[in-house]
Amino acid sequence: MNESWMLDELVHAGPEHLDPAFVAGFDRKQGYPDPAEDLAVFADHGLADDATVVDLGSGTGQFALAAATRFGRVVAVDVSAAMVERLRQRAADNALSNLECVQAGFLSYEHAAPLADGVFSRHALHQLPDFWKTLALERIARMLRPGGVLRLCDLIYDFHPSQAEEVFERWLDGASADPGAGYTRDDYIEHIRTEHSTFRWLLEPMLAAAGFEIVAVKFRGPVYGAYTCIKR
Ligand SMILES: C[S@@+](CC[C@H](N)C(=O)[O-])C[C@H]1O[C@@H](n2cnc3c(N)ncnc32)[C@H](O)[C@@H]1O
Repeated sequence: MNESWMLDELVHAGPEHLDPAFVAGFDRKQGYPDPAEDLAVFADHGLADDATVVDLGSGTGQFALAAATRFGRVVAVDVSAAMVERLRQRAADNALSNLECVQAGFLSYEHAAPLADGVFSRHALHQLPDFWKTLALERIARMLRPGGVLRLCDLIYDFHPSQAEEVFERWLDGASADPGAGYTRDDYIEHIRTEHSTFRWLLEPMLAAAGFEIVAVKFRGPVYGAYTCIKR
């Protein structure tokens, strides 16, 4: 893309994700989400042992490490050098030679052939404003083979704008008191104020415009959504 108008993805990455001290404590803070359901979604849509799967915004690799024990080639992509370094070390410690770690963003990662069978992204796309999300989704569609699967999990707002105050109050009330062991009220406030979670009814047309058919959607409360989409 023309660099004069390109978004600087590092500026939007969330400064904490670039900080090695935060990265060292990241897993304990965010918890250990079980990747089993996401892996099963890919398998249920026909991804076999030799599949190529790309994880965008891979962080410390909670999904990518598990995926690399299941699929033939996994590419973990993150814009943060500290995250990539940590995951590279973990891939080496686990002798996962089929796990490639790439420092790049949604808007800059260049996927090398063969086309991917699956793309996964969890809690990362909201770092981009909506215009850029749409470009990112279209780039994802281009790295997938026809029939390939996008599994997108993110903080997505599933409510009417008039409900924002009430929904956010309930969300903030459920925050962790310990910043080392969970996301706090201040973390959620920072998310709402400075990051780019969007409404469900805005995201879904973006997915369609990028060339995806949504085949399953599951929301856990009004903020956390998981989409399974097929590249048309
Ligand atoms: C909240 S973490 C989630 C990490 C991982 N997906 C997980 O669920 O454990 C968000 C990650 O997205 C990365 N990130 C932020 N902006 C990005 C971008 N434009 N392109 C790729 N990665 C990005 C951050 O560096 C960080 O590692």
